[in-house]
Amino acid sequence: MTGEWTTPQDVASALESVGYLADARIAQVAFLANALSKPILAEGPAGVGKTALALALAEATGRRLVRLQCYEGLDEAKALYEWDYHKQLLRLQSEEGAAWDEIEGDIFSESFLLTRPLLEAIRSKEPVVLLIDEVDRVEVETEALLLEVLDTYQVTVPELGTMTAVTTPIVVLTSNNTRELSEALKRRCLYLYVPYPSIERERAILVSRIPDLPEKLADKIARTVSAIRQLPLRKAPSVSETIDWARTLIALGIEDVNDEVTSDTINVLLKYQVDIDRAAKEFSLDTPDG
Ligand SMILES: Nc1ncnc2c1ncn2[C@@H]1O[C@H](COP(=O)(O)OP(=O)(O)OP(=O)(O)O)[C@@H](O)[C@H]1O
Ligand SMILES: [Mg+2]
Repeated sequence: MTGEWTTPQDVASALESVGYLADARIAQVAFLANALSKPILAEGPAGVGKTALALALAEATGRRLVRLQCYEGLDEAKALYEWDYHKQLLRLQSEEGAAWDEIEGDIFSESFLLTRPLLEAIRSKEPVVLLIDEVDRVEVETEALLLEVLDTYQVTVPELGTMTAVTTPIVVLTSNNTRELSEALKRRCLYLYVPYPSIERERAILVSRIPDLPEKLADKIARTVSAIRQLPLRKAPSVSETIDWARTLIALGIEDVNDEVTSDTINVLLKYQVDIDRAAKEFSLDTPDG
């Protein structure tokens, strides 16, 4: 637990000092996660700052970040631990003729254990932030691997027993909501929906991420992107795309946003031709086909 945080505002300030602008909800959930020692489950569209929240929490607290990137097919051996078979084999060969009872206890001991992110976070002597990124990518059965860690900050290795976290990690899980997560997983976490930022917050994010961006241009960009997000699009622009767009305008030496500029650079914000066409129609932008 981070003792200096006594209000959600403290968390917001700490995150802001490392360039992450939280809204009231994000700050409150991060505060409670720390106060109640509970994992955060951050869900929401792509590119709204879910992963960035975990990185910012690590930076703001000076904790090391331990990251488990989830993907289809992730298993215990990659998430928790595995035995170093190669080393075990070498030991077996060198001990030829010795009684199995003696060797067994030896080769299933700490020095033959390869720790993967979940076990690494639990065993770390220094406090860590554990990021379990894109948890919706693993099969629902694989979620079960996480439950013990999320519940009790423990990992059980049958041969060695149960290991308990030395210091309570701050845990952030992220999901893009590509499938429903299990009730069991949700129950163990504080739920946080991360929406697209408001115009004010997105403007502030732009200014914080791109120091040489003029305030007025940041405002124009945030307003334009917000208007584009209102359209029924296949994929609305995310904060990362807004940042890319701002950088694009700076690189092209553009100082103001108008329809012509938007039309000429919209491919930085929108990644589907149907969406580009839709935006063009809405804003009566010039497209190559008129
Ligand atoms: N509140 C914020 N304050 C500062 N920067 C932000 C904020 N939200 C998003 N960003 C910026 O937007 C970028 C995208 O954020 P991030 O990668 O965390 O998105 P994500 O929600 O994890 O997306 P995905 O679901 O695609 O993984 C980050 O590089 C970060 O710089
Ligand atoms: Mg992410």
